[in-house]
Amino acid sequence: MEQQVSVNIIGAGLAGLSAAKTFAEAGIHVRLVSYQASERAQSNLAEGGINAALNVMGEEDSIRGHFEDTLRGGCFLADPNMVRNLTDGAPGIVMEMDSLGVPFHRENGHLIQRNFGGQKKKRTAYAKSSTGKVLMTALIDAVRRYEAEGLVERYPHHCFERLILKNGRACGVQICDRFRDQEIVLEGSVLMACGGMNGLLGGLTTGTTSNTGAAAAMLLEQGVEFANLEFLQYHPTTVSITGKRLLVSEAARGEGGRLFYLDMDGNRRYFMEEKYGERGNLMPRDVISREMVMLGKPVCLGLTGLDEKTWGVKLSDLREEIIHYLGIDPAAEPVPVSPGIHYFMGGILVDEHHRTNIPDLYAAGECACAYHGANRLGGNSLLGAIFGGREAARTAILQLSGKTEAGHASPQDTRTCRAVTEAEGSIHEEMTQLLAKGLAALRDKETMETALNRLVELRTQAESTDASDELRSKLLLGEAMLRCALARKESRGAHTRLDFPDTDEAMRKTTVVRVEDGVVRIRFREIPELRQE
Ligand code: FUM
Repeated sequence: MEQQVSVNIIGAGLAGLSAAKTFAEAGIHVRLVSYQASERAQSNLAEGGINAALNVMGEEDSIRGHFEDTLRGGCFLADPNMVRNLTDGAPGIVMEMDSLGVPFHRENGHLIQRNFGGQKKKRTAYAKSSTGKVLMTALIDAVRRYEAEGLVERYPHHCFERLILKNGRACGVQICDRFRDQEIVLEGSVLMACGGMNGLLGGLTTGTTSNTGAAAAMLLEQGVEFANLEFLQYHPTTVSITGKRLLVSEAARGEGGRLFYLDMDGNRRYFMEEKYGERGNLMPRDVISREMVMLGKPVCLGLTGLDEKTWGVKLSDLREEIIHYLGIDPAAEPVPVSPGIHYFMGGILVDEHHRTNIPDLYAAGECACAYHGANRLGGNSLLGAIFGGREAARTAILQLSGKTEAGHASPQDTRTCRAVTEAEGSIHEEMTQLLAKGLAALRDKETMETALNRLVELRTQAESTDASDELRSKLLLGEAMLRCALARKESRGAHTRLDFPDTDEAMRKTTVVRVEDGVVRIRFREIPELRQE
Protein backbone atom coordinates (compact mmCIF):
# COMPACT_ATOMS: atom_id res chain seq x y z
CA MET A 1 0.00 0.00 0.00
CA GLU A 2 1.27 3.48 -0.83
CA GLN A 3 2.33 5.38 2.24
CA GLN A 4 0.45 8.51 3.20
CA VAL A 5 2.02 11.93 2.74
CA SER A 6 1.10 14.35 5.53
CA VAL A 7 1.25 18.08 5.97
CA ASN A 8 1.44 19.76 9.35
CA ILE A 9 -0.54 22.96 9.82
CA ILE A 10 0.31 25.00 12.88
CA GLY A 11 -2.72 27.03 13.90
CA ALA A 12 -6.41 26.20 13.63
CA GLY A 13 -7.94 29.64 13.08
CA LEU A 14 -9.26 30.84 9.73
CA ALA A 15 -6.00 30.48 7.80
CA GLY A 16 -5.29 27.02 9.23
CA LEU A 17 -8.83 25.77 8.62
CA SER A 18 -8.91 27.16 5.10
CA ALA A 19 -5.62 25.41 4.36
CA ALA A 20 -6.82 22.15 5.97
CA LYS A 21 -9.99 22.19 3.87
CA THR A 22 -7.99 22.78 0.69
CA PHE A 23 -5.57 19.93 1.40
CA ALA A 24 -8.38 17.58 2.37
CA GLU A 25 -10.33 18.40 -0.79
CA ALA A 26 -7.25 17.30 -2.71
CA GLY A 27 -7.17 14.08 -0.69
CA ILE A 28 -4.07 15.03 1.30
CA HIS A 29 -3.82 14.11 4.97
CA VAL A 30 -3.19 17.04 7.30
CA ARG A 31 -2.48 17.40 10.97
CA LEU A 32 -4.03 20.50 12.44
CA VAL A 33 -1.95 21.49 15.45
CA SER A 34 -3.13 24.27 17.70
CA TYR A 35 -2.48 25.72 21.13
CA GLN A 36 -6.20 25.98 21.71
CA ALA A 37 -9.19 24.40 20.01
CA SER A 38 -10.47 26.18 16.88
CA GLU A 39 -13.47 27.43 18.83
CA ARG A 40 -11.11 29.58 20.91
CA ALA A 41 -8.83 30.83 18.15
CA GLN A 42 -8.29 34.57 17.77
CA SER A 43 -10.21 34.53 14.47
CA ASN A 44 -13.43 34.09 16.47
CA LEU A 45 -12.93 37.54 17.95
CA ALA A 46 -12.79 39.35 14.62
CA GLU A 47 -15.72 41.70 14.47
CA GLY A 48 -16.56 44.03 11.65
CA GLY A 49 -16.48 42.07 8.41
CA ILE A 50 -14.76 40.72 5.32
CA ASN A 51 -14.05 42.73 2.17
CA ALA A 52 -14.91 41.85 -1.41
CA ALA A 53 -15.99 44.02 -4.32
CA LEU A 54 -19.37 42.37 -4.81
CA ASN A 55 -20.92 45.57 -6.14
CA VAL A 56 -24.24 44.91 -4.44
CA MET A 57 -24.77 48.40 -3.03
CA GLY A 58 -25.43 50.26 -6.27
CA GLU A 59 -22.15 52.19 -5.98
CA GLU A 60 -20.40 50.82 -9.05
CA ASP A 61 -17.78 49.12 -6.97
CA SER A 62 -15.05 47.14 -8.70
CA ILE A 63 -12.25 44.73 -7.94
CA ARG A 64 -9.90 47.41 -9.26
CA GLY A 65 -11.26 49.77 -6.57
CA HIS A 66 -10.60 47.18 -3.85
CA PHE A 67 -7.10 46.64 -5.23
CA GLU A 68 -6.33 50.37 -5.29
CA ASP A 69 -7.74 51.05 -1.82
CA THR A 70 -5.74 48.15 -0.35
CA LEU A 71 -2.49 49.28 -1.95
CA ARG A 72 -3.03 52.92 -1.00
CA GLY A 73 -4.12 51.96 2.54
CA GLY A 74 -0.88 49.99 2.88
CA CYS A 75 1.11 53.04 1.67
CA PHE A 76 2.30 51.13 -1.40
CA LEU A 77 4.47 48.76 0.59
CA ALA A 78 2.63 45.54 -0.32
CA ASP A 79 3.54 43.48 -3.38
CA PRO A 80 0.90 44.66 -5.91
CA ASN A 81 0.80 41.23 -7.56
CA MET A 82 -0.18 39.66 -4.25
CA VAL A 83 -2.78 42.34 -3.59
CA ARG A 84 -4.23 41.75 -7.05
CA ASN A 85 -4.48 38.02 -6.34
CA LEU A 86 -6.22 38.79 -3.05
CA THR A 87 -8.73 41.28 -4.38
CA ASP A 88 -9.45 39.18 -7.49
CA GLY A 89 -10.11 36.20 -5.25
CA ALA A 90 -12.22 38.08 -2.69
CA PRO A 91 -15.69 37.77 -4.27
CA GLY A 92 -15.19 34.01 -4.69
CA ILE A 93 -14.15 33.67 -1.05
CA VAL A 94 -17.18 35.55 0.26
CA MET A 95 -19.51 33.59 -2.01
CA GLU A 96 -17.96 30.34 -0.88
CA MET A 97 -18.46 31.32 2.77
CA ASP A 98 -22.03 32.27 1.94
CA SER A 99 -22.58 28.85 0.42
CA LEU A 100 -21.20 27.26 3.59
CA GLY A 101 -24.03 28.93 5.45
CA VAL A 102 -22.39 32.05 6.91
CA PRO A 103 -25.27 34.33 7.91
CA PHE A 104 -24.09 37.50 6.19
CA HIS A 105 -26.41 40.44 6.72
CA ARG A 106 -29.20 40.51 4.15
CA GLU A 107 -32.05 42.81 3.38
CA ASN A 108 -34.97 41.55 1.29
CA GLY A 109 -32.88 38.46 0.62
CA HIS A 110 -29.94 40.45 -0.79
CA LEU A 111 -26.49 40.49 0.77
CA ILE A 112 -25.71 43.96 2.14
CA GLN A 113 -22.25 45.47 2.66
CA ARG A 114 -21.12 48.21 5.04
CA ASN A 115 -18.65 51.05 5.05
CA PHE A 116 -15.24 50.39 6.50
CA GLY A 117 -12.13 52.50 6.93
CA GLY A 118 -9.93 53.51 4.00
CA GLN A 119 -12.36 52.26 1.36
CA LYS A 120 -14.26 54.35 -1.10
CA LYS A 121 -17.24 52.00 -1.38
CA LYS A 122 -19.38 49.85 0.89
CA ARG A 123 -17.45 46.64 0.45
CA THR A 124 -17.50 44.85 3.79
CA ALA A 125 -19.80 41.83 4.15
CA TYR A 126 -20.71 41.21 7.79
CA ALA A 127 -22.73 39.42 10.38
CA LYS A 128 -23.52 42.05 13.04
CA SER A 129 -20.12 42.54 14.67
CA SER A 130 -19.40 38.83 15.05
CA THR A 131 -18.17 38.10 11.54
CA GLY A 132 -15.11 36.16 12.70
CA LYS A 133 -17.21 33.85 14.82
CA VAL A 134 -19.66 32.93 12.07
CA LEU A 135 -16.90 32.36 9.52
CA MET A 136 -15.10 30.13 12.00
CA THR A 137 -18.27 28.17 12.75
CA ALA A 138 -18.76 27.50 9.05
CA LEU A 139 -15.17 26.44 8.42
CA ILE A 140 -14.95 24.31 11.56
CA ASP A 141 -18.01 22.49 10.32
CA ALA A 142 -16.74 22.20 6.75
CA VAL A 143 -13.52 20.62 8.03
CA ARG A 144 -15.39 18.21 10.31
CA ARG A 145 -16.42 15.96 7.45
CA TYR A 146 -12.76 15.51 6.55
CA GLU A 147 -11.98 14.74 10.18
CA ALA A 148 -14.61 12.01 9.97
CA GLU A 149 -12.92 10.68 6.83
CA GLY A 150 -9.56 10.66 8.59
CA LEU A 151 -8.06 13.24 6.24
CA VAL A 152 -7.81 15.90 8.94
CA GLU A 153 -6.32 14.85 12.23
CA ARG A 154 -6.50 17.36 15.02
CA TYR A 155 -3.85 18.05 17.67
CA PRO A 156 -5.55 20.65 19.87
CA HIS A 157 -3.76 21.82 23.02
CA HIS A 158 -0.37 21.23 21.50
CA CYS A 159 2.27 23.89 21.18
CA PHE A 160 4.79 24.29 18.43
CA GLU A 161 8.31 23.91 19.73
CA ARG A 162 10.54 23.92 16.67
CA LEU A 163 10.85 23.26 13.00
CA ILE A 164 12.75 20.17 11.97
CA LEU A 165 15.18 20.92 9.18
CA LYS A 166 17.07 18.47 7.01
CA ASN A 167 19.52 19.80 4.42
CA GLY A 168 17.91 23.21 4.72
CA ARG A 169 14.37 21.92 4.03
CA ALA A 170 11.45 21.80 6.45
CA CYS A 171 10.68 18.16 7.07
CA GLY A 172 8.59 18.28 10.20
CA VAL A 173 7.83 19.89 13.51
CA GLN A 174 8.41 19.11 17.14
CA ILE A 175 5.30 19.87 19.17
CA CYS A 176 4.36 19.37 22.80
CA ASP A 177 1.12 17.96 24.14
CA ARG A 178 0.20 20.47 26.83
CA PHE A 179 -2.01 18.02 28.72
CA ARG A 180 0.32 15.05 28.79
CA ASP A 181 3.65 16.89 28.71
CA GLN A 182 4.71 14.74 25.85
CA GLU A 183 6.81 15.76 22.92
CA ILE A 184 5.81 14.53 19.49
CA VAL A 185 7.66 14.74 16.21
CA LEU A 186 5.44 15.11 13.15
CA GLU A 187 7.11 14.53 9.81
CA GLY A 188 6.10 16.26 6.60
CA SER A 189 5.88 19.74 5.12
CA VAL A 190 4.82 22.57 7.39
CA LEU A 191 2.32 25.39 6.97
CA MET A 192 2.43 28.07 9.64
CA ALA A 193 -0.90 29.75 10.40
CA CYS A 194 -0.16 30.66 13.99
CA GLY A 195 -1.56 34.21 14.10
CA GLY A 196 -0.18 37.44 15.51
CA MET A 197 2.61 37.91 18.03
CA ASN A 198 0.39 39.29 20.78
CA GLY A 199 2.28 37.68 23.64
CA LEU A 200 5.26 39.90 22.95
CA LEU A 201 3.24 42.91 23.96
CA GLY A 202 1.59 41.49 27.07
CA GLY A 203 -2.02 42.53 27.53
CA LEU A 204 -1.69 45.58 25.31
CA THR A 205 -3.30 44.08 22.23
CA THR A 206 -6.87 43.35 21.18
CA GLY A 207 -5.65 39.87 20.24
CA THR A 208 -5.43 36.96 22.61
CA THR A 209 -2.14 36.43 24.44
CA SER A 210 -2.64 32.72 23.76
CA ASN A 211 -0.98 33.76 20.52
CA THR A 212 2.25 34.03 22.45
CA GLY A 213 4.60 34.83 19.58
CA ALA A 214 6.75 31.87 20.66
CA ALA A 215 6.38 30.02 17.35
CA ALA A 216 7.38 33.07 15.32
CA ALA A 217 10.31 33.68 17.64
CA MET A 218 11.62 30.14 17.28
CA LEU A 219 11.29 30.27 13.49
CA LEU A 220 13.26 33.51 13.39
CA GLU A 221 15.98 31.94 15.48
CA GLN A 222 16.00 28.93 13.15
CA GLY A 223 16.74 31.07 10.09
CA VAL A 224 13.28 31.83 8.70
CA GLU A 225 13.16 35.30 7.14
CA PHE A 226 10.68 37.83 8.50
CA ALA A 227 9.59 41.14 7.01
CA ASN A 228 8.22 44.56 7.98
CA LEU A 229 8.30 43.86 11.71
CA GLU A 230 8.16 47.59 12.47
CA PHE A 231 4.53 47.82 11.33
CA LEU A 232 2.15 47.30 14.24
CA GLN A 233 -1.39 48.42 13.66
CA TYR A 234 -2.89 50.68 16.32
CA HIS A 235 -6.69 50.45 16.05
CA PRO A 236 -8.21 53.83 16.98
CA THR A 237 -11.15 52.58 19.02
CA THR A 238 -10.06 50.27 21.80
CA VAL A 239 -10.59 50.32 25.54
CA SER A 240 -8.39 48.89 28.27
CA ILE A 241 -10.01 46.04 30.21
CA THR A 242 -8.37 43.52 32.52
CA GLY A 243 -5.62 41.68 30.70
CA LYS A 244 -6.20 43.05 27.20
CA ARG A 245 -7.65 45.78 25.00
CA LEU A 246 -11.30 45.55 24.08
CA LEU A 247 -12.04 46.31 20.44
CA VAL A 248 -14.89 48.65 19.64
CA SER A 249 -15.40 47.60 16.05
CA GLU A 250 -14.79 49.97 13.16
CA ALA A 251 -18.27 48.84 12.16
CA ALA A 252 -19.53 51.35 14.72
CA ARG A 253 -18.01 54.17 12.64
CA GLY A 254 -19.01 52.41 9.43
CA GLU A 255 -22.60 52.70 10.64
CA GLY A 256 -22.26 56.38 11.54
CA GLY A 257 -20.24 56.64 14.79
CA ARG A 258 -18.30 59.90 15.23
CA LEU A 259 -15.07 60.59 17.10
CA PHE A 260 -14.88 63.75 19.15
CA TYR A 261 -13.23 65.49 22.08
CA LEU A 262 -14.59 68.20 24.32
CA ASP A 263 -13.01 71.66 24.00
CA MET A 264 -12.48 74.11 26.86
CA ASP A 265 -16.09 75.28 26.58
CA GLY A 266 -17.41 71.75 26.70
CA ASN A 267 -18.30 71.71 23.00
CA ARG A 268 -17.85 68.57 20.95
CA ARG A 269 -15.06 68.85 18.41
CA TYR A 270 -15.36 66.29 15.65
CA PHE A 271 -11.67 66.57 14.94
CA MET A 272 -11.47 63.93 12.20
CA GLU A 273 -14.34 65.47 10.25
CA GLU A 274 -12.89 68.97 10.76
CA LYS A 275 -9.59 67.89 9.25
CA TYR A 276 -10.58 65.23 6.70
CA GLY A 277 -14.18 66.06 5.83
CA GLU A 278 -17.05 63.65 5.48
CA ARG A 279 -14.87 60.49 5.45
CA GLY A 280 -12.93 61.65 8.52
CA ASN A 281 -14.16 58.92 10.88
CA LEU A 282 -13.38 56.31 8.27
CA MET A 283 -9.87 57.32 7.36
CA PRO A 284 -7.42 54.39 7.49
CA ARG A 285 -6.54 53.29 11.01
CA ASP A 286 -2.97 54.59 10.95
CA VAL A 287 -4.21 58.09 10.15
CA ILE A 288 -6.89 58.18 12.86
CA SER A 289 -4.68 56.65 15.55
CA ARG A 290 -1.89 59.10 14.79
CA GLU A 291 -4.30 62.05 14.97
CA MET A 292 -5.64 60.82 18.30
CA VAL A 293 -2.20 60.36 19.84
CA MET A 294 -1.04 63.75 18.57
CA LEU A 295 -4.20 65.37 19.88
CA GLY A 296 -3.25 64.24 23.38
CA LYS A 297 -6.80 64.65 24.70
CA PRO A 298 -9.42 62.12 25.83
CA VAL A 299 -11.46 61.06 22.81
CA CYS A 300 -14.96 59.60 22.75
CA LEU A 301 -16.87 57.64 20.16
CA GLY A 302 -20.34 59.10 19.80
CA LEU A 303 -22.91 56.50 18.83
CA THR A 304 -26.05 58.03 20.22
CA GLY A 305 -27.14 59.19 16.76
CA LEU A 306 -27.43 55.62 15.43
CA ASP A 307 -30.98 54.56 14.70
CA GLU A 308 -33.06 51.77 16.22
CA LYS A 309 -32.57 49.47 13.26
CA THR A 310 -28.77 49.75 13.45
CA TRP A 311 -28.75 48.91 17.16
CA GLY A 312 -31.39 46.26 16.82
CA VAL A 313 -30.12 44.45 13.75
CA LYS A 314 -26.60 45.46 12.77
CA LEU A 315 -24.76 46.18 16.00
CA SER A 316 -26.82 44.55 18.74
CA ASP A 317 -23.92 42.34 19.82
CA LEU A 318 -21.47 45.27 19.96
CA ARG A 319 -23.89 47.16 22.17
CA GLU A 320 -24.21 44.17 24.50
CA GLU A 321 -20.44 43.79 24.63
CA ILE A 322 -19.88 47.44 25.54
CA ILE A 323 -22.58 47.28 28.22
CA HIS A 324 -21.12 44.04 29.56
CA TYR A 325 -17.47 45.10 29.73
CA LEU A 326 -17.73 48.84 30.31
CA GLY A 327 -21.11 49.32 31.92
CA ILE A 328 -21.89 51.98 29.27
CA ASP A 329 -24.89 51.85 26.96
CA PRO A 330 -23.46 53.24 23.72
CA ALA A 331 -26.95 54.05 22.45
CA ALA A 332 -27.30 56.47 25.34
CA GLU A 333 -23.82 57.86 26.07
CA PRO A 334 -20.43 58.25 24.38
CA VAL A 335 -17.72 55.61 24.77
CA PRO A 336 -14.20 56.77 25.77
CA VAL A 337 -11.71 55.17 23.35
CA SER A 338 -8.00 55.23 22.62
CA PRO A 339 -5.68 53.51 20.13
CA GLY A 340 -4.48 49.99 20.96
CA ILE A 341 -2.36 47.40 19.16
CA HIS A 342 -4.61 45.32 16.94
CA TYR A 343 -2.63 43.66 14.16
CA PHE A 344 0.89 42.80 13.01
CA MET A 345 1.35 43.72 9.36
CA GLY A 346 4.82 42.16 9.50
CA GLY A 347 5.61 38.50 9.92
CA ILE A 348 7.09 35.53 8.12
CA LEU A 349 8.20 36.69 4.68
CA VAL A 350 6.29 34.85 1.96
CA ASP A 351 6.33 35.12 -1.79
CA GLU A 352 3.30 35.32 -4.00
CA HIS A 353 2.67 31.61 -3.49
CA HIS A 354 3.06 31.74 0.28
CA ARG A 355 6.45 30.06 0.21
CA THR A 356 9.06 31.10 2.77
CA ASN A 357 12.83 31.12 2.33
CA ILE A 358 12.86 27.54 3.67
CA PRO A 359 11.72 24.94 1.12
CA ASP A 360 8.58 23.04 2.23
CA LEU A 361 7.71 25.71 4.79
CA TYR A 362 4.67 27.89 3.97
CA ALA A 363 2.87 30.59 5.93
CA ALA A 364 -0.50 32.32 5.82
CA GLY A 365 -2.77 34.53 7.89
CA GLU A 366 -1.57 37.10 10.41
CA CYS A 367 1.73 35.32 11.03
CA ALA A 368 2.74 35.98 7.41
CA CYS A 369 3.76 39.28 5.85
CA ALA A 370 1.72 39.22 2.67
CA TYR A 371 -0.99 41.65 1.68
CA HIS A 372 -1.16 44.61 3.99
CA GLY A 373 1.95 46.70 3.48
CA ALA A 374 2.42 49.46 6.04
CA ASN A 375 -1.19 49.46 7.23
CA ARG A 376 -3.99 46.93 6.86
CA LEU A 377 -7.48 47.97 5.90
CA GLY A 378 -10.23 46.75 8.20
CA GLY A 379 -12.03 43.79 6.65
CA ASN A 380 -8.95 42.59 4.77
CA SER A 381 -7.63 40.36 7.55
CA LEU A 382 -10.42 37.77 7.47
CA LEU A 383 -10.12 37.81 3.71
CA GLY A 384 -6.32 37.51 3.80
CA ALA A 385 -6.53 34.60 6.25
CA ILE A 386 -9.02 32.52 4.27
CA PHE A 387 -7.54 33.37 0.88
CA GLY A 388 -3.93 33.03 2.06
CA GLY A 389 -4.55 29.68 3.76
CA ARG A 390 -6.04 28.36 0.54
CA GLU A 391 -3.21 29.73 -1.63
CA ALA A 392 -0.50 28.34 0.64
CA ALA A 393 -2.17 24.92 0.57
CA ARG A 394 -2.52 25.00 -3.22
CA THR A 395 1.18 25.76 -3.58
CA ALA A 396 2.11 22.97 -1.20
CA ILE A 397 -0.16 20.54 -3.05
CA LEU A 398 1.70 21.21 -6.32
CA GLN A 399 4.98 20.69 -4.51
CA LEU A 400 3.76 17.46 -2.96
CA SER A 401 2.60 15.81 -6.15
CA GLY A 402 4.79 12.84 -6.77
CA LYS A 403 6.05 12.62 -3.19
CA THR A 404 5.29 9.36 -1.47
CA GLU A 405 7.42 9.33 1.64
CA ALA A 406 5.42 8.77 4.80
CA GLY A 407 4.96 11.55 7.30
CA HIS A 408 5.06 9.68 10.58
CA ALA A 409 3.94 11.03 13.92
CA SER A 410 6.38 9.84 16.56
CA PRO A 411 5.73 10.34 20.25
CA GLN A 412 8.97 11.07 22.09
CA ASP A 413 9.82 10.55 25.73
CA THR A 414 7.36 11.93 28.21
CA ARG A 415 8.88 14.84 30.06
CA THR A 416 7.78 17.42 32.50
CA CYS A 417 7.32 20.88 31.07
CA ARG A 418 9.66 23.21 32.85
CA ALA A 419 7.73 25.86 34.77
CA VAL A 420 8.56 29.48 34.02
CA THR A 421 10.89 30.69 36.78
CA GLU A 422 10.35 33.97 38.59
CA ALA A 423 13.44 35.42 36.91
CA GLU A 424 12.13 34.43 33.46
CA GLY A 425 8.73 35.89 34.28
CA SER A 426 10.23 39.22 35.22
CA ILE A 427 12.46 39.34 32.11
CA HIS A 428 9.40 38.60 29.97
CA GLU A 429 7.39 41.31 31.68
CA GLU A 430 10.14 43.85 31.20
CA MET A 431 10.47 42.84 27.55
CA THR A 432 6.78 43.51 26.88
CA GLN A 433 7.04 46.93 28.50
CA LEU A 434 10.16 47.80 26.52
CA LEU A 435 8.52 46.80 23.26
CA ALA A 436 5.38 48.76 24.09
CA LYS A 437 7.48 51.88 24.73
CA GLY A 438 9.88 51.42 21.83
CA LEU A 439 7.16 50.54 19.34
CA ALA A 440 4.60 53.09 20.49
CA ALA A 441 2.39 54.72 17.85
CA LEU A 442 4.81 57.66 17.74
CA ARG A 443 8.48 56.71 17.85
CA ASP A 444 11.92 58.21 17.62
CA LYS A 445 15.52 57.03 17.62
CA GLU A 446 16.07 57.77 21.27
CA THR A 447 13.08 55.85 22.64
CA MET A 448 13.75 52.92 20.34
CA GLU A 449 17.44 52.78 21.15
CA THR A 450 16.78 52.97 24.88
CA ALA A 451 14.40 50.01 24.57
CA LEU A 452 16.81 48.12 22.33
CA ASN A 453 19.84 48.57 24.59
CA ARG A 454 17.96 47.26 27.59
CA LEU A 455 16.53 44.37 25.55
CA VAL A 456 20.03 43.36 24.51
CA GLU A 457 21.06 43.39 28.18
CA LEU A 458 18.07 41.19 28.99
CA ARG A 459 19.14 38.76 26.28
CA THR A 460 22.61 38.50 27.79
CA GLN A 461 21.04 38.04 31.21
CA ALA A 462 18.71 35.33 29.88
CA GLU A 463 21.61 33.50 28.29
CA SER A 464 23.72 33.62 31.43
CA THR A 465 20.86 32.35 33.61
CA ASP A 466 20.05 29.39 31.39
CA ALA A 467 16.62 30.77 30.49
CA SER A 468 14.20 28.75 28.37
CA ASP A 469 14.62 28.57 24.58
CA GLU A 470 11.24 30.29 24.30
CA LEU A 471 12.28 33.33 26.29
CA ARG A 472 15.62 33.64 24.51
CA SER A 473 14.02 33.48 21.08
CA LYS A 474 11.30 35.95 22.04
CA LEU A 475 13.95 38.43 23.14
CA LEU A 476 15.58 37.93 19.77
CA LEU A 477 12.30 38.60 17.97
CA GLY A 478 11.73 41.71 20.09
CA GLU A 479 15.22 42.88 19.20
CA ALA A 480 14.48 42.26 15.50
CA MET A 481 11.31 44.37 15.72
CA LEU A 482 13.14 47.29 17.25
CA ARG A 483 16.03 47.02 14.81
CA CYS A 484 13.59 47.04 11.87
CA ALA A 485 11.89 50.12 13.31
CA LEU A 486 15.23 51.88 13.74
CA ALA A 487 16.33 50.94 10.24
CA ARG A 488 13.24 52.49 8.64
CA LYS A 489 14.20 56.14 8.70
CA GLU A 490 10.91 57.54 7.47
CA SER A 491 7.25 57.68 8.47
CA ARG A 492 4.95 55.39 6.53
CA GLY A 493 1.61 53.88 7.49
CA ALA A 494 1.64 52.59 11.04
CA HIS A 495 5.31 53.49 11.50
CA THR A 496 5.42 57.14 12.55
CA ARG A 497 8.80 58.54 13.46
CA LEU A 498 8.90 61.93 15.10
CA ASP A 499 12.52 62.32 13.98
CA PHE A 500 11.71 61.34 10.35
CA PRO A 501 8.18 62.70 9.86
CA ASP A 502 8.16 62.42 6.07
CA THR A 503 7.62 59.48 3.78
CA ASP A 504 10.73 58.80 1.74
CA GLU A 505 10.12 57.25 -1.68
CA ALA A 506 13.63 55.78 -1.57
CA MET A 507 12.52 53.73 1.45
CA ARG A 508 9.51 52.20 -0.28
CA LYS A 509 11.03 48.79 0.29
CA THR A 510 10.37 45.71 2.36
CA THR A 511 12.41 45.37 5.53
CA VAL A 512 13.73 41.80 5.56
CA VAL A 513 15.20 40.40 8.74
CA ARG A 514 17.09 37.21 9.31
CA VAL A 515 19.10 35.79 12.21
CA GLU A 516 22.52 34.37 11.45
CA ASP A 517 24.61 32.91 14.27
CA GLY A 518 22.45 34.72 16.80
CA VAL A 519 22.93 38.08 15.08
CA VAL A 520 19.95 40.04 13.69
CA ARG A 521 20.67 41.14 10.11
CA ILE A 522 18.47 43.54 8.18
CA ARG A 523 18.28 44.34 4.50
CA PHE A 524 15.80 46.19 2.32
CA ARG A 525 14.19 44.50 -0.65
CA GLU A 526 12.61 46.19 -3.67
CA ILE A 527 8.83 46.00 -4.03
CA PRO A 528 8.03 44.03 -7.21
CA GLU A 529 6.37 45.87 -10.09
CA LEU A 530 2.80 44.95 -10.99
CA ARG A 531 2.99 42.44 -13.82
CA GLN A 532 0.97 43.19 -16.92
CA GLU A 533 -1.69 40.56 -17.48
O1 FUM B 1 -12.82 47.04 13.93
C1 FUM B 1 -12.99 45.91 13.46
O2 FUM B 1 -14.09 45.38 13.38
C2 FUM B 1 -11.81 45.21 12.98
C3 FUM B 1 -11.83 44.58 11.82
C4 FUM B 1 -10.54 44.16 11.19
O3 FUM B 1 -9.49 44.37 11.79
O4 FUM B 1 -10.57 43.66 10.07
